[in-house]
Amino acid sequence: MCGIVGIAGTRDVAPVILEALKRLEYRGYDSAGIATLDHGAIDRRRAPGKLNMLGAMLHDRPLHGHTGIGHTRWATHGAPTEANAHPHATAQVAIVHNGIIENFRELNAELTAKGHKFESETDSETAAHLVTQLMSEGLAPDAAAKKAVARLTGAYSIAMIFKDHDGLLVGARRGAPLAVGYADTEAYIGSDAFALAPFTKKVSYLEEGDVVVIRGAQVTIFDGEGRPANREIKITSASAALVDKAGHSHFMVKEIHEQPEVVGHTLAHYLDPAGPDVRRQGKGLRDALVKASRLTISGCGTAYYAGLVGKYWFEKLARMSVETDVASELRYRDPVYPENGVALFVSQSGETADTLAALRDSKAKGQTTIAVVNVAESSIAREADIVLPTYAGPEIGVASTKAFTCQLAALACFAIAAAEARRTISKGEEKVLCASLLEAPRHIAEFLKQEPAIKILGEEIAKVRDVLYMGRGASYPLALEGALKLKEISYIHAEGYAAGEMKHGPIALIDEAVPIIVIAPHDAHFEKTISNMQEVMARGGKVLLISDKAGIAKAGKVWASIEVPTTNSFITPLINAIPVQLLAYYAAIAKGTDVDQPRNLAKSVTVE
Ligand code: M6R
Repeated sequence: MCGIVGIAGTRDVAPVILEALKRLEYRGYDSAGIATLDHGAIDRRRAPGKLNMLGAMLHDRPLHGHTGIGHTRWATHGAPTEANAHPHATAQVAIVHNGIIENFRELNAELTAKGHKFESETDSETAAHLVTQLMSEGLAPDAAAKKAVARLTGAYSIAMIFKDHDGLLVGARRGAPLAVGYADTEAYIGSDAFALAPFTKKVSYLEEGDVVVIRGAQVTIFDGEGRPANREIKITSASAALVDKAGHSHFMVKEIHEQPEVVGHTLAHYLDPAGPDVRRQGKGLRDALVKASRLTISGCGTAYYAGLVGKYWFEKLARMSVETDVASELRYRDPVYPENGVALFVSQSGETADTLAALRDSKAKGQTTIAVVNVAESSIAREADIVLPTYAGPEIGVASTKAFTCQLAALACFAIAAAEARRTISKGEEKVLCASLLEAPRHIAEFLKQEPAIKILGEEIAKVRDVLYMGRGASYPLALEGALKLKEISYIHAEGYAAGEMKHGPIALIDEAVPIIVIAPHDAHFEKTISNMQEVMARGGKVLLISDKAGIAKAGKVWASIEVPTTNSFITPLINAIPVQLLAYYAAIAKGTDVDQPRNLAKSVTVE
């Protein structure tokens, strides 16, 4: 999604903004730009493509000035061209915007009638003209900015600078996050604390409807009613160190390799190895779990699939009634929420617009809300009643890998905690489950040694046009996740199916050209899944089986197999995630795609 950086500074800010924008690259973008005030006049550079294009432009034609804004744009309205790139500007004001201004057509018609001329196809340019119009009617820049944002509908965050007002920076938040950074002689605005980390650790977060007015280092925040508001200044944990690939060729593969460590960190938060047992939950959470009449689990993409795995665990262990849906549906479905219901939302970024909206809706409808979230300072973390953190660290690759396994780790612990609170498992069962979870990091590390063999299989997969994945039970969401991973980074068409569904339609797709990746741990569902696999093979299907030693021995001859460590079946989703990630990664490498920033995708989806 779009990234915003603004600086009211004491030095030439364009190079510094460019560096800060690099820290937002992970969000996904397709053009970028910077505007500064040079002797009071607005000057800007914008370029389609990656930041190196903007960097080259700035090298040839540097921007000067101590006050500036920068932006990485993920196109929504209009193609990623220079004209559509931010900042959008008039002679009076330059703005950068993340989100969607839903009423831009009406506003454009009104402003066109007053003589404004639009140069782009974007909704964002509207804000620049609206502020300009209000200033031409006599309002001071900050007053015009406040009045303008009050007229915008939709979800957005925005930052602006104004002609002849060196040191003045105005920001606003409605629906998309915006952080404010504090230093002795400068102040900053950024889409997240990570972008601001090289400048300052002191950060506050705007709340819905807030407008921030920065004059030099002086920061004043106003709430949605225009009253001065105090927003707590926190010391952010975001690291100033530029995240690097630590010798890996891509962030994605680095993050795949980090999994033993980060899954271990996440488990350490929830499990006491001395028991082993789950660390007892606070009374609020425990009561909610005991009373829960139903658990609703939601999220988007990979986070949703983690939640789907959770459903199997909560039903089996805690005997809870569980409903699952993607957040973009849940929020609009007008679901019937029960009394004493608990709604659990899973998100890496904690900023996904649909997930946040679904959380708010369920909270408004009386559910106790719980967030499994990786970014502790995110909107979802701040708005949920109870936060279950994951400790994946910053995930930069657009394709989620380590965040997924950490979500699984947290959900597995939470399912055991729910079962313990509801007395649906014995102390002995709790110990066995916890002990098996604590072994997961070691098994993942052991499996990663097979990377060279998986690379070869990934290269085979890269040659085909379509791939099917299938699994049963908790391996079904893994099939969905495997297919998502492959399609998003290699652009190979892939679908995941519940193994039992194959013969209800998808089996018609089977021929020698379509590999089927079968995820079949040697568990209670094994025989059934293998029967489905045989049905596929009988029709010429080329099977790649992911199973453990016993499973592979029993399954008989297949095109290829990947042997995962033998573990308690409870933790197999955590282990089987690794081969599907590596297969996708090496298929993408063989195809030469942009693995970390695949086309059309954004890391943090802050528009619905
Ligand atoms: O930040 P979130 O976990 O809320 O993001 C949800 C999805 O956008 C995300 O998982 C997406 O599906 C990934 N690109 C998958 O790799």
